[in-house]
Amino acid sequence: MNKRKLIVGNWKMNGSLAANESLVRELLAGIGQPRCEVAVCPPGIYLAQLQALLAGSPIELGVQNVSTHEVGAFTGDVSAEMLKDFGVRYAIVGHSERRQHQAESDVHVAIKAKRALAAGITPIVCVGETLREREEGMTDFIVKRQLAAVIHLNGHCSSEIVVAYEPVWAIGTGQTATPEQAQQVHAVLRAQLKGVTEHADRVRILYGGSMNAANAAELLAQPDIDGGLIGGASLKAADFLKIVGAAA
Ligand code: G3P
Repeated sequence: MNKRKLIVGNWKMNGSLAANESLVRELLAGIGQPRCEVAVCPPGIYLAQLQALLAGSPIELGVQNVSTHEVGAFTGDVSAEMLKDFGVRYAIVGHSERRQHQAESDVHVAIKAKRALAAGITPIVCVGETLREREEGMTDFIVKRQLAAVIHLNGHCSSEIVVAYEPVWAIGTGQTATPEQAQQVHAVLRAQLKGVTEHADRVRILYGGSMNAANAAELLAQPDIDGGLIGGASLKAADFLKIVGAAA
């Protein structure tokens, strides 16, 4: 199955108008014609700026969250339909930081994915276990449970999602999963998808969790690792470009 890898930068709650312009100009100066798909996800307040800066470039625009609601009295929320006004292509949903700090449940994440798909935006569904869950041998159960909710609500549309395996213990810690550890979980997720869609091989499964310029090539060489969801390294143009270069 020939599919292009996908490298997504999750800027999290970082940036400013000046810093964003500087970072994007460095990215555009060095990205050339990438052999993979590339997207960046700034804080939502900067969407208009990023839409203008990225116009006509090979870098797509994403967001870090989307409302579970379609429209109405939901103070502070941003709907998937609103995101279309800014040319948003991808929406991260269910990031472990939101599951932890915003009490987002598997059901919330499934609904967010549904809202994104309905608006023509590709959800990047984040799954991942904590260190304790891994130590207790619960990794496969946890990631399959998290993905199952999204599959249950979205049915055959599940073939249109992107999945990101982000072991919580590797996020922001510098303690990256080994290629073998990551591949083992990606294979479990691929098998789960094969149980519900004939297009499972088309679904991109990204790895996230301290992927960087030094370890990207080895991770991306794994058969079921189809790209990366990059946090800290996406804020440094040179590092992010090296990861993009490794995603041939
Ligand atoms: O969403 C990607 C992020 O959680 C990974 O962060 O800093 O470990 O690359 P980082």
